[in-house]
Amino acid sequence: MVQFPLTLSEDTSISSKDCMNPEQDDTLRQQSQEIWNQNAAFWDRLIGDTGNRFHRTMVEPAALKLLALTPGETVLEVACGNGAFARRMAEAGVQVLATDFSTGLLEHARRRTQHESISYALVDATEEEQLLALGQRRFDAAVCNMGLMDMPVIDPLFAALSRVLKPGGRFVFSVQHPCFNSNGANKTVELQDQDGELATIAAIKVSRYATPWTERAMGAAGQETPHYQFHRPINQLLNAGFRAGLVLHGLEEPVDEAEPNSSKWMAWSNFQELPPVLVGRFRLG
Ligand SMILES: C[S@@+](CC[C@H](N)C(=O)[O-])C[C@H]1O[C@@H](n2cnc3c(N)ncnc32)[C@H](O)[C@@H]1O
Repeated sequence: MVQFPLTLSEDTSISSKDCMNPEQDDTLRQQSQEIWNQNAAFWDRLIGDTGNRFHRTMVEPAALKLLALTPGETVLEVACGNGAFARRMAEAGVQVLATDFSTGLLEHARRRTQHESISYALVDATEEEQLLALGQRRFDAAVCNMGLMDMPVIDPLFAALSRVLKPGGRFVFSVQHPCFNSNGANKTVELQDQDGELATIAAIKVSRYATPWTERAMGAAGQETPHYQFHRPINQLLNAGFRAGLVLHGLEEPVDEAEPNSSKWMAWSNFQELPPVLVGRFRLG
């Protein structure tokens, strides 16, 4: 999804400490929802019926591998966007309840979906009660692709997952890789003389990682209004699941395996040792 880490101005920064303030979380949630509605048409065009290349080559294969869906299962999708992954899962023969907090994106999702095995619902994943209302011990699996880093709080989601999943149920998430694909990680391409041959070295310089922060970010080139993102180092991301009684049960770090592209230096295919996505599977007890 995000291929263009940005330099952000000071006035869009909010400290991680402020984000722990529930009043501000509410304001952030509202603003975040408005922004996703404003950008809904843009994201719908970007993702289309079946996902963009970033999704199709990295997010989707890793998430499907970890989900290991079995026909007939019931799956909850959190932050489903325009429903591209829900449609992909429906093709695997499962029943999907796909949720998002953007009415705009849900409209696009419904317009693009013919599958009877998919239903959509408006749910704010930072509100535990809204998730619990979907049905306790109802789902064999749950998935949230490229969504957790857009949520100011993730404990309510994990707490709800521990109750809406069936015993042994799994939760698969994908996020921008917190080490290599954040606003604290800058891509560089350098020239190096290697025994008389000039070689280009693609690298990522990481200046921030350990402390969570909140910023406005452009998810993809051309997005008009930057949305809020909430950087969490890997320990904070995983500890949220552990606190809710989930155990980590699988991890993938897909890279872009397309041909390196010398006319587009910042393409992820030029950084094949540096995964832009982290995909994990938790399991309930
Ligand atoms: C980067 S998009 C990913 C969408 C989709 N999963 C995909 O991979 O194409 C992030 C999605 O998270 C949704 N989102 C952000 N915060 C949310 C929240 N608190 N509750 C539910 N959805 C949320 C947005 O509306 C948007 O659809």
